Amino acid sequence: MRFQLALVAIAFSAASAAPLAGRDSIFDKTSVITSTKHINAPVEDVIATLHNFTAMITLNPLVTNFVEDPSDPTGNTFTITDSVPLILGLSFPTTYTAHFDTVDDGMDTNNTASAGVSLHNQWRAVANATGGTDLTETDTLTANFLLSGLITEELTTSHNQLMNTLASQLEVAAGNA
Ligand SMILES: *[C@@H]1O[C@H](CO)[C@@H](O)[C@H](O)[C@H]1NC(C)=O
Ligand SMILES: *[C@@H]1O[C@H](CO)[C@@H](O)[C@H](O)[C@H]1NC(C)=O
Ligand SMILES: *[C@@H]1O[C@H](CO)[C@@H](O)[C@H](O)[C@H]1NC(C)=O
Repeated sequence: MRFQLALVAIAFSAASAAPLAGRDSIFDKTSVITSTKHINAPVEDVIATLHNFTAMITLNPLVTNFVEDPSDPTGNTFTITDSVPLILGLSFPTTYTAHFDTVDDGMDTNNTASAGVSLHNQWRAVANATGGTDLTETDTLTANFLLSGLITEELTTSHNQLMNTLASQLEVAAGNA
């Protein structure tokens, strides 16, 4: 989800020359993006990883730094810095706040980015009859309509990468690689 936020930040910076309206503006568009991946590992393993926030943060190869937010006594809020790749091998750092919550069958994240861009992720793990797990991530993205299409496209790409990394780590751990 950090990778996605990073891409949101790119899109936002790219458009920051234009004045953007804040949340709840008529210029905002909300999009829902869903993807499911079958993981050849027990549902308990998948949920345990979803409940391990630092594991989920470090799954993202772009993360260069993360610290627990001391203002949240539950320890569920992190300030995360990504190094976001741009074209021509250039990159720039972007920092944002992510709040995590566990649920019995998964995890929720709210990411707070710059001016009017918000991203809510839900991860849900369901046992599959094969002994594996079907993991579904649902993202609800609210952003300025000018940015929404680009961000949605980047989200979908980065989504798949994160899911694949998560799946292969769990399958190796379960001896099913
Ligand atoms: C959570 O994940 C981190 C990073 O992978 C790992 O070092 C740590 O041992 C895990 N914690 C638990 C409770 O499994
Ligand atoms: C995340 O945002 C959603 C939608 O605005 C809200 O319903 C939910 O309570 C928030 N959760 C957290 C942990 O902030
Ligand atoms: C279990 O996973 C297989 C392979 O991905 C999939 O075809 C099937 O629909 C899944 N079954 C259930 C009950 O989700």
